[in-house]
Amino acid sequence: MRSFIFHNRFLAALLLPLSTLIFSCTGPVPMVVNNLDRQVDSVLSLMTLDEKIGQMTLYTSDMDQTGAFVRKEYEEDIKYGRVGSIFNAYGADYTRKLQDLAIKNTRLRIPLLFGYDVIHGHRTIFPVPLAEASSWDMKSIEHAARIAAIEASAEGLHWTFAPMCDIARDPRWGRIVEGSGEDPYLGSEIARARVRGFQGNSLGEVNTVVACVKHYAAYGAAQAGRDYHTTDMSQRLLREVYLPPYKAAIDEGALTVMSSFNDLDGIPATANKFLLSDVLRGEWGFDGFVVTDYNSIGELINHGVAADQAEAAAISLEAGIDMDMQAGIYPATLSNLVDKQLVSEELINIAVRRILKVKFQLGLFEDPYKYCSTEREKTLLMTPGHQEAARDMARKSFVLLKNENQLLPLSKNLKRIAVVGPLADSRQDLIGSWSAAGDWSKAVTLLEGVRAAVPQAQVQYVKGCEITGTSTDNIKQAVEVAKSADVVILAVGEAAWMSGEAASRSDIGLPGVQQTLVEAVYKTGKPVVVVLMNGRPLTIKWIDSHIPAILETWFAGTQAGNAIADVLFGDYNPSGKLPVTFPDNLGQVPVYYSMRNTGRPFEAANKYTSKYLDGPNEPLYVFGYGLSYTKFEYSPLVLDKNILTENDTISISVTVKNTGELAGEEVVQLYVHDKVASVAPPVKTLKGFKKIRIDAGEEKIVQFVLTPADLAFYRADMTYGWEKGAFRIDVGTNSRDVVSAEFNLQ
Ligand code: GLC
Repeated sequence: MRSFIFHNRFLAALLLPLSTLIFSCTGPVPMVVNNLDRQVDSVLSLMTLDEKIGQMTLYTSDMDQTGAFVRKEYEEDIKYGRVGSIFNAYGADYTRKLQDLAIKNTRLRIPLLFGYDVIHGHRTIFPVPLAEASSWDMKSIEHAARIAAIEASAEGLHWTFAPMCDIARDPRWGRIVEGSGEDPYLGSEIARARVRGFQGNSLGEVNTVVACVKHYAAYGAAQAGRDYHTTDMSQRLLREVYLPPYKAAIDEGALTVMSSFNDLDGIPATANKFLLSDVLRGEWGFDGFVVTDYNSIGELINHGVAADQAEAAAISLEAGIDMDMQAGIYPATLSNLVDKQLVSEELINIAVRRILKVKFQLGLFEDPYKYCSTEREKTLLMTPGHQEAARDMARKSFVLLKNENQLLPLSKNLKRIAVVGPLADSRQDLIGSWSAAGDWSKAVTLLEGVRAAVPQAQVQYVKGCEITGTSTDNIKQAVEVAKSADVVILAVGEAAWMSGEAASRSDIGLPGVQQTLVEAVYKTGKPVVVVLMNGRPLTIKWIDSHIPAILETWFAGTQAGNAIADVLFGDYNPSGKLPVTFPDNLGQVPVYYSMRNTGRPFEAANKYTSKYLDGPNEPLYVFGYGLSYTKFEYSPLVLDKNILTENDTISISVTVKNTGELAGEEVVQLYVHDKVASVAPPVKTLKGFKKIRIDAGEEKIVQFVLTPADLAFYRADMTYGWEKGAFRIDVGTNSRDVVSAEFNLQ
């Protein structure tokens, strides 16, 4: 006997005659639906073609703007069922108002879905994603996403356009800030953690939001690091490096995917059947819905793969696009295309089913207003607990790049501290790009954090120069203040707008005259700590060779200043590791740890080897690099066997000893090198990591277990699997400084 639950009496009344149900006349009695698909099909069976197309349409409100243009008619569109989802609208009252327009005016009262770019926090802003990735701390990253979901859902949001899973190996690309760096293994683990955080244990819970895996696919491989540019790569590179994090997020249960702006091998992702149907549906079994990026259907005309909007709509629908973000092309063309039998209504039914399913899973049909609670809004935003979590995440995301003669941590008994630089008291830049509903005026600056940490010290601040621009007028004042101090904390880097979308840079040095400021302060001879605030790796070779202490803090969010002070004054021992390589100079880019060896690997004494005439091959800082205030020593590796066979595992143990005076956390990294294979193997590939805390003088044994499947790759014939032969295991504190051992796979 079929049974249904509907608390939307109207819908129940409409649907029930269609089913073989026994319906009591004593009002809406609870009838249990035992099949989500049946619920969806029951609604779908009632819908007109226009109502279906309305569900495939997503428009931005004008509350926030994240793209080139905004439509003003979205409230009218809602009333007449011409749109099924709205983004960039939040707040219990405002989303209730918009939901009311749908529920009280449309024929079937299908609830709206509200989406927003909650990328690294909603009101409480966490460090930018590249910073979070530097923590290598999956629990903290998941917790940050969980808090983002709690705050976003408290303001009426059902759906976040995150996690961004784009692998990026070109620091010129501004959106490198939004991702997890250069490595697919780390990127995949982080993607999973974020999906768990956003979607929680059940989407029926009111404090969870639907995740959106973006930007599918390979958007981060934009040629020359120029945003929106062509991406072109081998199937092998696509499948081994760029696709895994998207798949990991989907395997973790993400219910939506966003197609990317770029063309991949000449086929724009939004019209790319291979990506959207063959791989996403056919290989990965994804059964959620796919939304385009902002106006991507319209941009197929610019790409030159569609002559007009109708053609753009047809090829997008046939490729596998379910929802049109902001182009308004599905509502403008699909009905006519169906009437002319140029597209099949069945494709529309498939798309609408996927969309309705998500709305059912969120519980919106039962209660379209479940997320519109002013009560939750009042109690769940920017709580002290959320602030502490943001501060903790920030501390863990900082990377200590240099600490000559243990200049850091600074003593809390210092008398005179100079805080200098254009980012030292900048509030607006601290929350970085894609900071959602974050209020930068609530961010704690570095200057405030230092003053709070050492209230008894005389802390003098001078900006010294702007982030950009040519004026050196105030450098003199900065030098004077530096001369009178015991130590200088010098905060330099980028403005928040210099990374993120449409923010590629062709030079990744310090902008403006900041380098002049750094050199002038250095010349005072005072001990200088450089605090970097930036959204990408920068070329900072001079700083590295002259400044004794360098702390990478990225854009650290609402609690930035407190978190940086925690590290500078030793209340937290830095544990971050770079998720992306810092090049020695821009000419090396792309440069990343898992390169192939080539037939002529560099030899200093040999002219005919792979090198530059005017610079090194080695980057400035390698992937996985980061120092601590203490020292960790690694024992030789212990393998439980030297021969690994098909159905077996190999265990790798290493003893890590904290030989310093301070407790600290270490990210123990495991890399593998396949010594001979049918495809030239990368010099090493990350296959595992563990972040552990070790007290001073203590040691811990860290164990990894590998199976032959962990050693699989796309072989010469593009089949995925492993090959017998010799392997080298590297375990260490970064991708270069390792202890090694070998084994054979037979
Ligand atoms: C933007 C971005 C995308 C974002 C979307 C909605 O153009 O590319 O990351 O989710 O539009 O704001």
